[in-house]
Amino acid sequence: MSKKGLSAKIASRKAVVGIVGLGYVGLPLAAAFAQKGFRVVGFDVDAAKVKALASGRSHIADVSSPTIREIVSGGRFAPTTQFSRLSACDAIIICVPTPLRKTKDPDLTFILAACEAIMGRLRKGQLIVLESTTYPGTTREMVRPVFEGSGLKAGRDFHLAFSPERVDPGNKTYGIENTPKVVGGVTPACGALAAELYGEIVDSVIEVSSADSAEMVKLLENTFRAVNIAMVNEIARMCHRLGVDVWEIIDAAKTKPFGFMPFYPGPGLGGHCIPVDPNYLAWKMKSLNFEPRFIDLASATNSRMPDYVAGRVAELLNGMGKAVRASRILILGVAYKPGVKDIRESPALDVMKLLLDQGARLSYHDPFVPRVSIEGAVLRSAALTPASIKRSDLALILTAHASVDYSRVLKHAKMVFDTRNAAAGISRRNLRRL
Ligand SMILES: NC(=O)c1ccc[n+]([C@@H]2O[C@H](COP(=O)([O-])OP(=O)(O)OC[C@H]3O[C@@H](n4cnc5c(N)ncnc54)[C@H](O)[C@@H]3O)[C@@H](O)[C@H]2O)c1
Repeated sequence: MSKKGLSAKIASRKAVVGIVGLGYVGLPLAAAFAQKGFRVVGFDVDAAKVKALASGRSHIADVSSPTIREIVSGGRFAPTTQFSRLSACDAIIICVPTPLRKTKDPDLTFILAACEAIMGRLRKGQLIVLESTTYPGTTREMVRPVFEGSGLKAGRDFHLAFSPERVDPGNKTYGIENTPKVVGGVTPACGALAAELYGEIVDSVIEVSSADSAEMVKLLENTFRAVNIAMVNEIARMCHRLGVDVWEIIDAAKTKPFGFMPFYPGPGLGGHCIPVDPNYLAWKMKSLNFEPRFIDLASATNSRMPDYVAGRVAELLNGMGKAVRASRILILGVAYKPGVKDIRESPALDVMKLLLDQGARLSYHDPFVPRVSIEGAVLRSAALTPASIKRSDLALILTAHASVDYSRVLKHAKMVFDTRNAAAGISRRNLRRL
Protein backbone atom coordinates (compact mmCIF):
# COMPACT_ATOMS: atom_id res chain seq x y z
CA MET A 1 0.00 0.00 0.00
CA SER A 2 1.32 3.47 -0.92
CA LYS A 3 1.50 6.40 1.50
CA LYS A 4 -1.58 7.80 -0.25
CA GLY A 5 -3.39 4.51 0.24
CA LEU A 6 -2.70 4.50 3.97
CA SER A 7 -3.66 8.20 4.20
CA ALA A 8 -7.03 7.40 2.68
CA LYS A 9 -7.55 4.45 4.99
CA ILE A 10 -6.73 6.63 8.01
CA ALA A 11 -9.06 9.42 6.89
CA SER A 12 -11.91 6.96 6.37
CA ARG A 13 -11.01 5.22 9.68
CA LYS A 14 -10.72 1.94 7.83
CA ALA A 15 -7.08 1.52 8.85
CA VAL A 16 -6.54 -1.31 11.35
CA VAL A 17 -4.53 -0.04 14.31
CA GLY A 18 -2.30 -2.41 16.29
CA ILE A 19 -1.26 -1.39 19.80
CA VAL A 20 1.67 -3.34 21.25
CA GLY A 21 1.64 -3.19 25.08
CA LEU A 22 -1.72 -2.70 26.81
CA GLY A 23 -0.66 -0.87 29.97
CA TYR A 24 -1.21 2.66 31.31
CA VAL A 25 -0.31 4.09 27.90
CA GLY A 26 -1.42 1.45 25.40
CA LEU A 27 -4.87 0.66 26.75
CA PRO A 28 -6.24 4.24 26.81
CA LEU A 29 -4.80 4.71 23.32
CA ALA A 30 -6.44 1.53 22.06
CA ALA A 31 -9.75 2.67 23.56
CA ALA A 32 -9.41 6.12 21.98
CA PHE A 33 -8.90 4.70 18.47
CA ALA A 34 -11.69 2.14 18.93
CA GLN A 35 -14.09 4.81 20.16
CA LYS A 36 -13.38 6.87 17.04
CA GLY A 37 -14.43 3.91 14.90
CA PHE A 38 -11.08 2.28 14.08
CA ARG A 39 -10.64 -1.46 14.35
CA VAL A 40 -7.94 -1.99 16.96
CA VAL A 41 -5.94 -5.11 17.69
CA GLY A 42 -4.23 -4.95 21.10
CA PHE A 43 -1.12 -7.10 21.61
CA ASP A 44 0.33 -8.01 24.97
CA VAL A 45 2.62 -10.76 26.25
CA ASP A 46 0.62 -10.93 29.49
CA ALA A 47 -2.01 -13.59 28.78
CA ALA A 48 -3.94 -12.86 31.99
CA LYS A 49 -4.32 -9.19 31.03
CA VAL A 50 -5.47 -10.11 27.54
CA LYS A 51 -7.96 -12.64 28.87
CA ALA A 52 -9.41 -10.10 31.32
CA LEU A 53 -9.71 -7.46 28.59
CA ALA A 54 -11.34 -9.93 26.19
CA SER A 55 -13.96 -10.60 28.83
CA GLY A 56 -14.51 -6.86 29.34
CA ARG A 57 -12.45 -6.20 32.46
CA SER A 58 -10.11 -3.21 32.52
CA HIS A 59 -6.97 -3.06 34.69
CA ILE A 60 -6.45 0.69 34.14
CA ALA A 61 -8.49 3.18 36.18
CA ASP A 62 -8.68 5.71 33.33
CA VAL A 63 -10.44 3.19 31.05
CA SER A 64 -13.62 1.77 32.54
CA SER A 65 -14.70 -1.86 32.19
CA PRO A 66 -17.99 -0.81 30.49
CA THR A 67 -15.89 1.01 27.86
CA ILE A 68 -13.82 -2.13 27.27
CA ARG A 69 -16.97 -4.26 27.10
CA GLU A 70 -18.53 -1.89 24.59
CA ILE A 71 -15.55 -1.81 22.21
CA VAL A 72 -14.84 -5.55 22.51
CA SER A 73 -18.45 -6.59 21.93
CA GLY A 74 -18.77 -4.05 19.11
CA GLY A 75 -15.89 -5.79 17.34
CA ARG A 76 -13.69 -2.68 17.47
CA PHE A 77 -11.12 -3.91 19.99
CA ALA A 78 -9.51 -7.34 19.88
CA PRO A 79 -6.97 -8.00 22.63
CA THR A 80 -4.63 -10.86 21.77
CA THR A 81 -1.31 -12.58 22.52
CA GLN A 82 -1.06 -13.75 18.90
CA PHE A 83 1.56 -11.55 17.32
CA SER A 84 0.92 -13.14 13.90
CA ARG A 85 -2.03 -10.73 13.70
CA LEU A 86 0.44 -7.82 13.41
CA SER A 87 0.58 -8.37 9.66
CA ALA A 88 -3.11 -7.45 9.42
CA CYS A 89 -2.47 -4.02 10.98
CA ASP A 90 -1.98 -0.90 8.86
CA ALA A 91 -0.54 1.17 11.70
CA ILE A 92 1.27 -0.25 14.73
CA ILE A 93 1.99 1.74 17.88
CA ILE A 94 4.52 0.43 20.39
CA CYS A 95 3.78 1.20 24.06
CA VAL A 96 5.99 -1.23 25.97
CA PRO A 97 7.90 -0.41 29.18
CA THR A 98 11.26 1.34 29.18
CA PRO A 99 12.63 0.79 32.68
CA LEU A 100 16.15 1.29 33.99
CA ARG A 101 18.66 -1.41 34.73
CA LYS A 102 20.07 -1.58 38.25
CA THR A 103 22.98 0.51 36.95
CA LYS A 104 20.45 3.22 35.90
CA ASP A 105 21.21 2.53 32.24
CA PRO A 106 18.27 2.30 29.80
CA ASP A 107 16.73 -1.13 29.44
CA LEU A 108 15.51 -1.37 25.86
CA THR A 109 14.85 -5.10 25.88
CA PHE A 110 11.05 -4.60 25.75
CA ILE A 111 11.31 -2.27 22.75
CA LEU A 112 13.66 -4.68 21.01
CA ALA A 113 11.35 -7.65 21.67
CA ALA A 114 8.37 -5.70 20.30
CA CYS A 115 10.35 -4.59 17.23
CA GLU A 116 11.52 -8.12 16.53
CA ALA A 117 7.94 -9.39 16.76
CA ILE A 118 6.90 -6.74 14.23
CA MET A 119 9.94 -7.17 11.97
CA GLY A 120 9.04 -10.74 11.00
CA ARG A 121 5.60 -9.54 9.88
CA LEU A 122 6.49 -6.14 8.45
CA ARG A 123 4.89 -5.45 5.11
CA LYS A 124 4.99 -2.63 2.61
CA GLY A 125 2.91 0.42 3.45
CA GLN A 126 2.72 -0.11 7.22
CA LEU A 127 3.22 2.77 9.65
CA ILE A 128 5.06 2.02 12.89
CA VAL A 129 5.14 4.53 15.73
CA LEU A 130 7.16 4.18 18.91
CA GLU A 131 5.55 5.80 21.97
CA SER A 132 7.70 4.32 24.74
CA THR A 133 9.79 7.05 26.36
CA THR A 134 13.42 6.70 25.35
CA TYR A 135 16.64 8.60 24.62
CA PRO A 136 17.01 10.73 21.49
CA GLY A 137 18.18 8.62 18.58
CA THR A 138 16.47 5.34 19.56
CA THR A 139 13.97 5.28 16.69
CA ARG A 140 16.57 6.21 14.07
CA GLU A 141 19.61 4.35 15.39
CA MET A 142 18.09 1.26 16.94
CA VAL A 143 14.50 0.66 15.79
CA ARG A 144 15.01 1.54 12.12
CA PRO A 145 17.89 -0.95 11.54
CA VAL A 146 15.84 -3.75 13.16
CA PHE A 147 12.95 -3.15 10.73
CA GLU A 148 15.26 -2.60 7.77
CA GLY A 149 16.72 -6.04 8.51
CA SER A 150 13.56 -7.24 6.73
CA GLY A 151 14.87 -5.77 3.49
CA LEU A 152 12.23 -3.01 3.49
CA LYS A 153 13.34 0.63 3.73
CA ALA A 154 11.90 3.26 6.09
CA GLY A 155 10.35 6.21 4.27
CA ARG A 156 10.11 4.22 1.04
CA ASP A 157 8.53 0.85 1.84
CA PHE A 158 7.20 1.48 5.34
CA HIS A 159 6.84 4.50 7.62
CA LEU A 160 8.44 5.03 11.00
CA ALA A 161 7.93 7.77 13.59
CA PHE A 162 8.17 8.58 17.28
CA SER A 163 5.41 10.20 19.31
CA PRO A 164 5.84 10.71 23.03
CA GLU A 165 2.99 9.74 25.31
CA ARG A 166 1.95 12.52 27.66
CA VAL A 167 -0.81 10.73 29.55
CA ASP A 168 -1.20 11.85 33.15
CA PRO A 169 -2.97 8.98 34.92
CA GLY A 170 -5.88 10.15 37.06
CA ASN A 171 -6.01 13.62 35.44
CA LYS A 172 -9.70 14.47 35.00
CA THR A 173 -9.08 17.61 32.94
CA TYR A 174 -6.54 16.48 30.35
CA GLY A 175 -6.90 13.16 28.53
CA ILE A 176 -5.77 11.87 25.16
CA GLU A 177 -8.11 14.02 23.11
CA ASN A 178 -7.30 17.46 24.52
CA THR A 179 -3.58 16.95 25.16
CA PRO A 180 -1.61 18.06 22.08
CA LYS A 181 0.34 15.17 20.52
CA VAL A 182 3.91 15.65 19.34
CA VAL A 183 5.13 13.54 16.39
CA GLY A 184 8.38 13.30 14.44
CA GLY A 185 9.22 10.90 11.63
CA VAL A 186 12.49 9.36 10.47
CA THR A 187 11.59 11.12 7.19
CA PRO A 188 9.20 14.08 6.74
CA ALA A 189 6.68 11.80 4.98
CA CYS A 190 6.76 9.36 7.92
CA GLY A 191 6.09 12.24 10.33
CA ALA A 192 3.24 13.55 8.19
CA LEU A 193 1.54 10.15 8.08
CA ALA A 194 1.86 9.68 11.85
CA ALA A 195 0.38 13.19 12.29
CA GLU A 196 -2.58 12.16 10.12
CA LEU A 197 -3.16 9.07 12.24
CA TYR A 198 -3.11 10.92 15.58
CA GLY A 199 -5.11 13.77 14.05
CA GLU A 200 -8.06 11.37 14.02
CA ILE A 201 -8.10 11.03 17.82
CA VAL A 202 -6.57 14.22 19.28
CA ASP A 203 -7.55 17.87 18.88
CA SER A 204 -4.06 19.09 18.08
CA VAL A 205 -0.95 17.46 16.60
CA ILE A 206 2.44 19.18 16.75
CA GLU A 207 4.81 17.95 14.06
CA VAL A 208 8.51 18.33 14.80
CA SER A 209 11.29 17.86 12.27
CA SER A 210 12.52 14.39 13.24
CA ALA A 211 12.00 11.38 15.45
CA ASP A 212 15.07 12.49 17.47
CA SER A 213 13.37 15.84 18.16
CA ALA A 214 10.13 14.15 19.24
CA GLU A 215 12.10 11.92 21.62
CA MET A 216 13.89 14.96 23.04
CA VAL A 217 10.61 16.86 23.60
CA LYS A 218 9.46 14.20 26.07
CA LEU A 219 12.78 14.25 27.88
CA LEU A 220 12.75 18.03 28.13
CA GLU A 221 9.26 17.87 29.67
CA ASN A 222 10.14 15.27 32.25
CA THR A 223 13.61 16.61 33.02
CA PHE A 224 11.98 20.01 33.54
CA ARG A 225 9.72 18.46 36.16
CA ALA A 226 12.46 16.46 37.86
CA VAL A 227 14.78 19.50 38.09
CA ASN A 228 12.08 21.87 39.34
CA ILE A 229 10.83 19.40 41.92
CA ALA A 230 14.42 18.94 43.11
CA MET A 231 14.85 22.68 43.34
CA VAL A 232 11.70 23.14 45.39
CA ASN A 233 12.66 20.18 47.61
CA GLU A 234 15.90 21.97 48.36
CA ILE A 235 14.00 25.22 48.96
CA ALA A 236 11.78 23.31 51.44
CA ARG A 237 14.83 22.19 53.37
CA MET A 238 16.21 25.75 53.32
CA CYS A 239 12.87 27.08 54.59
CA HIS A 240 12.88 24.61 57.47
CA ARG A 241 16.37 25.74 58.42
CA LEU A 242 15.26 29.37 58.18
CA GLY A 243 12.13 28.77 60.21
CA VAL A 244 9.74 29.84 57.44
CA ASP A 245 6.87 27.88 55.90
CA VAL A 246 7.68 26.73 52.35
CA TRP A 247 3.99 26.30 51.48
CA GLU A 248 3.22 29.88 52.42
CA ILE A 249 6.19 31.02 50.33
CA ILE A 250 5.05 29.07 47.24
CA ASP A 251 1.45 30.26 47.60
CA ALA A 252 2.62 33.87 47.73
CA ALA A 253 5.18 33.44 44.91
CA LYS A 254 2.62 31.94 42.57
CA THR A 255 0.50 35.09 42.70
CA LYS A 256 3.08 36.58 40.33
CA PRO A 257 1.21 36.50 37.03
CA PHE A 258 4.31 35.89 34.89
CA GLY A 259 7.71 34.22 35.12
CA PHE A 260 6.86 31.79 37.92
CA MET A 261 5.35 28.34 37.90
CA PRO A 262 4.66 26.58 41.19
CA PHE A 263 6.19 23.20 41.98
CA TYR A 264 5.65 21.54 45.32
CA PRO A 265 8.01 19.68 47.62
CA GLY A 266 7.35 16.20 48.96
CA PRO A 267 8.94 13.03 50.26
CA GLY A 268 10.63 12.30 46.92
CA LEU A 269 9.92 11.49 43.29
CA GLY A 270 7.55 8.73 42.30
CA GLY A 271 5.85 7.09 39.37
CA HIS A 272 7.03 5.36 36.29
CA CYS A 273 8.23 8.46 34.42
CA ILE A 274 9.78 11.39 36.25
CA PRO A 275 12.34 9.42 38.33
CA VAL A 276 13.22 7.25 35.31
CA ASP A 277 13.12 9.26 32.10
CA PRO A 278 15.84 11.87 32.77
CA ASN A 279 18.25 8.97 33.24
CA TYR A 280 17.66 8.02 29.60
CA LEU A 281 18.86 11.45 28.54
CA ALA A 282 21.74 11.41 31.03
CA TRP A 283 22.90 8.02 29.74
CA LYS A 284 22.83 9.19 26.13
CA MET A 285 24.70 12.40 26.93
CA LYS A 286 27.36 10.55 28.91
CA SER A 287 27.90 8.32 25.87
CA LEU A 288 28.64 11.56 23.99
CA ASN A 289 31.07 12.71 26.68
CA PHE A 290 28.65 15.39 27.90
CA GLU A 291 28.16 15.76 31.63
CA PRO A 292 24.39 16.09 32.41
CA ARG A 293 24.90 18.01 35.65
CA PHE A 294 21.35 19.24 36.24
CA ILE A 295 19.94 15.75 35.83
CA ASP A 296 22.48 14.19 38.17
CA LEU A 297 22.00 16.91 40.79
CA ALA A 298 18.20 16.67 40.59
CA SER A 299 18.31 12.91 40.91
CA ALA A 300 20.62 13.11 43.96
CA THR A 301 18.50 15.85 45.58
CA ASN A 302 15.20 14.07 45.03
CA SER A 303 16.46 10.70 46.14
CA ARG A 304 17.68 12.22 49.41
CA MET A 305 14.14 13.29 50.37
CA PRO A 306 12.95 10.01 51.92
CA ASP A 307 15.98 10.14 54.23
CA TYR A 308 15.22 13.73 55.08
CA VAL A 309 11.59 12.90 55.89
CA ALA A 310 12.60 9.94 58.06
CA GLY A 311 15.06 12.25 59.84
CA ARG A 312 12.33 14.81 60.51
CA VAL A 313 10.10 12.04 61.89
CA ALA A 314 12.90 11.00 64.25
CA GLU A 315 13.31 14.64 65.38
CA LEU A 316 9.59 14.99 66.05
CA LEU A 317 9.43 11.77 68.04
CA ASN A 318 12.52 12.85 69.93
CA GLY A 319 10.74 16.06 70.86
CA MET A 320 7.98 13.90 72.31
CA GLY A 321 10.51 11.92 74.36
CA LYS A 322 10.30 8.89 72.05
CA ALA A 323 12.65 6.93 69.87
CA VAL A 324 11.73 5.75 66.38
CA ARG A 325 12.18 2.18 67.62
CA ALA A 326 8.83 0.82 68.84
CA SER A 327 6.96 4.04 68.04
CA ARG A 328 3.65 3.53 66.27
CA ILE A 329 3.63 5.47 63.04
CA LEU A 330 0.51 5.71 60.91
CA ILE A 331 1.34 6.35 57.25
CA LEU A 332 -1.31 8.17 55.24
CA GLY A 333 -1.01 7.49 51.50
CA VAL A 334 1.46 5.15 49.82
CA ALA A 335 0.58 5.63 46.11
CA TYR A 336 3.04 7.84 44.25
CA LYS A 337 0.44 10.55 43.76
CA PRO A 338 -3.12 11.38 44.84
CA GLY A 339 -6.06 9.58 43.31
CA VAL A 340 -4.18 6.60 41.86
CA LYS A 341 -3.32 3.08 43.01
CA ASP A 342 0.11 3.06 41.33
CA ILE A 343 2.98 2.54 43.81
CA ARG A 344 5.76 2.28 41.24
CA GLU A 345 8.83 4.16 42.53
CA SER A 346 6.64 5.66 45.25
CA PRO A 347 8.83 7.52 47.76
CA ALA A 348 6.38 6.48 50.49
CA LEU A 349 7.79 2.98 50.24
CA ASP A 350 11.32 4.31 50.74
CA VAL A 351 10.28 6.31 53.79
CA MET A 352 8.46 3.29 55.22
CA LYS A 353 11.48 1.07 54.68
CA LEU A 354 13.74 3.55 56.47
CA LEU A 355 11.37 3.71 59.44
CA LEU A 356 10.92 -0.06 59.55
CA ASP A 357 14.70 -0.49 59.50
CA GLN A 358 14.85 1.71 62.60
CA GLY A 359 12.32 -0.47 64.39
CA ALA A 360 9.18 1.63 64.01
CA ARG A 361 5.80 -0.14 64.19
CA LEU A 362 4.10 0.90 61.00
CA SER A 363 0.51 0.83 59.90
CA TYR A 364 -0.89 2.59 56.86
CA HIS A 365 -4.08 3.81 55.28
CA ASP A 366 -4.50 4.26 51.54
CA PRO A 367 -7.97 4.05 49.99
CA PHE A 368 -6.44 2.96 46.65
CA VAL A 369 -3.77 0.50 47.78
CA PRO A 370 -5.04 -2.48 49.81
CA ARG A 371 -1.62 -4.01 50.52
CA VAL A 372 2.07 -3.30 50.13
CA SER A 373 5.11 -5.46 50.59
CA ILE A 374 8.27 -3.89 51.94
CA GLU A 375 11.27 -6.16 52.02
CA GLY A 376 9.12 -9.21 52.60
CA ALA A 377 6.91 -7.57 55.24
CA VAL A 378 3.33 -7.41 53.99
CA LEU A 379 1.22 -4.54 55.31
CA ARG A 380 -2.49 -4.08 54.70
CA SER A 381 -4.31 -0.77 54.54
CA ALA A 382 -6.08 -0.25 57.87
CA ALA A 383 -9.37 1.57 58.34
CA LEU A 384 -8.91 5.17 59.43
CA THR A 385 -10.82 5.38 62.70
CA PRO A 386 -10.51 7.71 65.69
CA ALA A 387 -9.09 4.73 67.63
CA SER A 388 -6.46 3.86 65.00
CA ILE A 389 -5.39 7.49 64.79
CA LYS A 390 -5.23 7.92 68.59
CA ARG A 391 -3.22 4.71 68.94
CA SER A 392 -0.39 6.06 66.77
CA ASP A 393 2.41 8.21 68.15
CA LEU A 394 2.64 10.07 64.89
CA ALA A 395 0.64 10.25 61.67
CA LEU A 396 2.80 10.81 58.59
CA ILE A 397 1.09 12.13 55.45
CA LEU A 398 3.03 10.95 52.40
CA THR A 399 0.35 11.13 49.68
CA ALA A 400 -2.54 13.56 49.86
CA HIS A 401 -5.51 11.50 48.62
CA ALA A 402 -8.49 13.85 48.47
CA SER A 403 -10.87 11.31 50.00
CA VAL A 404 -9.05 11.28 53.37
CA ASP A 405 -10.50 13.52 56.07
CA TYR A 406 -7.37 15.31 57.34
CA SER A 407 -9.18 17.43 59.89
CA ARG A 408 -10.33 14.20 61.51
CA VAL A 409 -6.74 12.95 61.55
CA LEU A 410 -5.61 16.19 63.19
CA LYS A 411 -8.41 16.04 65.72
CA HIS A 412 -7.34 12.63 67.05
CA ALA A 413 -3.59 12.39 66.38
CA LYS A 414 -0.89 13.12 68.94
CA MET A 415 1.32 14.52 66.19
CA VAL A 416 0.93 14.87 62.41
CA PHE A 417 3.83 15.37 60.01
CA ASP A 418 2.41 16.55 56.69
CA THR A 419 4.86 16.26 53.78
CA ARG A 420 2.25 17.27 51.16
CA ASN A 421 0.41 20.20 52.67
CA ALA A 422 -2.68 17.99 52.72
CA ALA A 423 -3.86 19.93 55.77
CA ALA A 424 -3.51 23.27 53.94
CA GLY A 425 -4.92 26.23 55.76
CA ILE A 426 -5.23 24.38 59.06
CA SER A 427 -3.18 25.56 61.98
CA ARG A 428 -2.94 23.22 64.97
CA ARG A 429 -0.39 22.60 67.69
CA ASN A 430 -0.01 18.94 66.71
CA LEU A 431 0.71 19.71 63.03
CA ARG A 432 4.15 20.02 61.45
CA ARG A 433 4.73 20.57 57.76
CA LEU A 434 7.66 19.67 55.51
N1 LIG B 1 2.42 5.43 32.76
C1 LIG B 1 2.54 6.66 32.36
O1 LIG B 1 1.96 7.55 32.94
C2 LIG B 1 3.41 7.03 31.16
C3 LIG B 1 3.31 8.34 30.66
C4 LIG B 1 4.06 8.68 29.57
C5 LIG B 1 4.90 7.75 28.98
N2 LIG B 1 5.00 6.48 29.47
C6 LIG B 1 5.89 5.55 28.79
O2 LIG B 1 5.10 4.62 28.04
C7 LIG B 1 5.72 3.34 28.02
C8 LIG B 1 4.77 2.30 28.55
O3 LIG B 1 4.49 2.61 29.91
P1 LIG B 1 3.23 2.02 30.69
O4 LIG B 1 3.11 2.83 31.93
O5 LIG B 1 2.07 1.91 29.77
O6 LIG B 1 3.76 0.56 31.04
P2 LIG B 1 2.89 -0.66 31.63
O7 LIG B 1 3.85 -1.50 32.36
O8 LIG B 1 1.66 -0.15 32.29
O9 LIG B 1 2.41 -1.41 30.31
C9 LIG B 1 3.26 -2.01 29.40
C10 LIG B 1 2.58 -3.25 28.82
O10 LIG B 1 3.44 -3.78 27.83
C11 LIG B 1 3.37 -5.20 27.92
N3 LIG B 1 4.54 -5.76 27.23
C12 LIG B 1 5.81 -5.91 27.69
N4 LIG B 1 6.57 -6.41 26.73
C13 LIG B 1 5.80 -6.59 25.64
C14 LIG B 1 6.02 -7.07 24.33
N5 LIG B 1 7.24 -7.44 23.92
N6 LIG B 1 4.98 -7.11 23.48
C15 LIG B 1 3.75 -6.73 23.88
N7 LIG B 1 3.48 -6.24 25.10
C16 LIG B 1 4.49 -6.17 25.96
C17 LIG B 1 3.28 -5.47 29.41
O11 LIG B 1 2.75 -6.76 29.67
C18 LIG B 1 2.33 -4.35 29.86
O12 LIG B 1 0.98 -4.75 29.79
C19 LIG B 1 7.00 3.49 28.82
O13 LIG B 1 8.05 3.80 27.95
C20 LIG B 1 6.72 4.68 29.71
O14 LIG B 1 7.90 5.34 30.09
C21 LIG B 1 4.25 6.10 30.56
